[in-house]
Amino acid sequence: MCGIVGYIGDKQAAPILLQGLAKLEYRGYDSAGITVREGEKPAEVVKTIGKLHNLIEKTDEGRALVGTCGIGHTRWATHGAPSKTNAHPHVSGNCTNSGSGAVESEVVGVHNGIIENYQELKAKMERHGYKFYSETDTEVLIKLVDYYFKKYKMGPIDALAKTIVRVRGSYALVVMFADYPDRIFVARKDSPMIIGVNDGESFIASDVPAILSHTRNVYYIGNLEMAEISAGNVDFYNLDGDRIEKEETHIEWDAKAAEKGGYEHFMMKEIHEQPQVVLDTLHKYIKEEGAAKTIDLSEVGLTDEDITKFSNVYIVACGSAWHVGMEAQYVLEELGDFQVRVELASEFRYRKNRLPADSLVIIISQSGETADSLAALRMAKDKGITTLAIVNVVGSSIAREADYCMYTLGGPEISVATTKAYSCQLVCMFMLALKFAVVRGCMEDYGNYLDELLSIPEKMNKVLEDKERIQWFASKYSNARDIFFIGRGIDYAICLEGSLKMKEISYIHSEAYAAGEMKHGTISLIEDGTLVIGTLTQSDLYEKTLSNMMECKSRGAYLMGITSYGKYDVEDSVNFPVYVPKVDEHFIGSLAIIPLQLLGYYLSVSRGLDVDKPRNLAKSVTVE
Ligand code: G6P
Repeated sequence: MCGIVGYIGDKQAAPILLQGLAKLEYRGYDSAGITVREGEKPAEVVKTIGKLHNLIEKTDEGRALVGTCGIGHTRWATHGAPSKTNAHPHVSGNCTNSGSGAVESEVVGVHNGIIENYQELKAKMERHGYKFYSETDTEVLIKLVDYYFKKYKMGPIDALAKTIVRVRGSYALVVMFADYPDRIFVARKDSPMIIGVNDGESFIASDVPAILSHTRNVYYIGNLEMAEISAGNVDFYNLDGDRIEKEETHIEWDAKAAEKGGYEHFMMKEIHEQPQVVLDTLHKYIKEEGAAKTIDLSEVGLTDEDITKFSNVYIVACGSAWHVGMEAQYVLEELGDFQVRVELASEFRYRKNRLPADSLVIIISQSGETADSLAALRMAKDKGITTLAIVNVVGSSIAREADYCMYTLGGPEISVATTKAYSCQLVCMFMLALKFAVVRGCMEDYGNYLDELLSIPEKMNKVLEDKERIQWFASKYSNARDIFFIGRGIDYAICLEGSLKMKEISYIHSEAYAAGEMKHGTISLIEDGTLVIGTLTQSDLYEKTLSNMMECKSRGAYLMGITSYGKYDVEDSVNFPVYVPKVDEHFIGSLAIIPLQLLGYYLSVSRGLDVDKPRNLAKSVTVE
């Protein structure tokens, strides 16, 4: 939540900052702001309410601001409503103009995260004569930095160190000091921030896509660490103010991957990238020697010996990543003979449960920065439980802190509604299930399962070829009030994700229900014409779910049914059948989800909504 960028170098900062913010807008789009300074002159601050294009227009694409050093921010409001006054950057001075214009203050800065004790700190600052113009926790933070800077007169790093021991919460904080014109300073705890350094230029960002077109060499700043950034150089410090060494990481992602590439929306582009990124992810871990194929987790670091020690698996995640867990549990249980529990990270982190010592906690996360997932990971580690992360963003907090990390090769995902990252996570879980099953001696036709897995990308392409039918269907339902998704087992898990895609981008109320539960309440909501979507991909459950769908139909529902070609003939039973290619039933979710992603997408487009940036949401949820 909230996107931060910073630049210092020999070029004009504002256009670079605005381009960076455009790549981070998925992190928040309630308001945006920028500050730029030229040498000793006071920094200029410009803020606008609403999406980034307002700021781009107001600054004449950055041309209105002169200076080679600056910071930008796109906001997802936590403390204080979205408004120009609450927009970042914030300043330390007692100004009355919402902190905009030429800033005479010592400190100006932006922040991503939440300062939990901001009210207590605000009261303290007011006692010291500071006046506040906004309702934000960030303004408190900036004024606190100013207070310590002036009180101890030991320089910015010391002022930041004093500040971060005083605040509780999470922050990626980026500040400029009037007295240090050619420097930007940062501090971080539990909110993402990377620093990229190129020839004579330095970049700061919340996420990789913002700086990919400038450099792929980045540094990750650790928790409770600070950095002093000048043009082409960065020095890191710990809380004692001592210099620390960091290793540079090279990011493999291609800058083009973060562009729309001719598609109208990132979501559609990312839906179409699925066959390729799933193939890349499968090939990363499936090794072929002659005719023999095996799953090789040596890069993850998990040995067969490690695997045999686990008897329970907890899968912990948020949002769509949790849906991956919901689906994978059936596969892990059935193939690997494990006890599996799937937990929402926001619940798991506060449970007072005793985790058996032979458990494995798997955290699934695209961003690797989701606050609840990170807290759940730390909780498991504190209890001495082994942790394995499935993560897309290289070097993210969850990737670094987990005992083992299995990377997905999804590349940058920009659309708030996930598609390709979800699909990559799912095949990683399938690979883990197969590997665990083999190591535990409960699998015979391993080679056949691997062939089935490897056939998924090509079959995904086939599903995508049929997208016009879904588009046509979506145009009929653009005024739907409620949509219900029903299925059993793996089909239920597919429904959970299909329903989330629907509601988050089309704003149509939708619910996913285990088909057998409909009669316990939800069926009372079925009226003439209500759309009920059933997934019917599992042989042993097909007839049961179909009966539940027919019960809805006899109460007026219009039925859409998803199944696989040649397996069942649902034409006579459902109004709108959708067929996907056949694949082993454990893995069919990889195919059956695509029509549902497309349906959510087309409904959103037909309702004229902002597909990639749905209201109130942010891609990376780095606060609780
Ligand atoms: C947000 C995103 C979802 C994502 C969830 C978990 O809600 O919009 O697409 O599934 O966060 O994020 P993570 O980065 O941990 O996968």
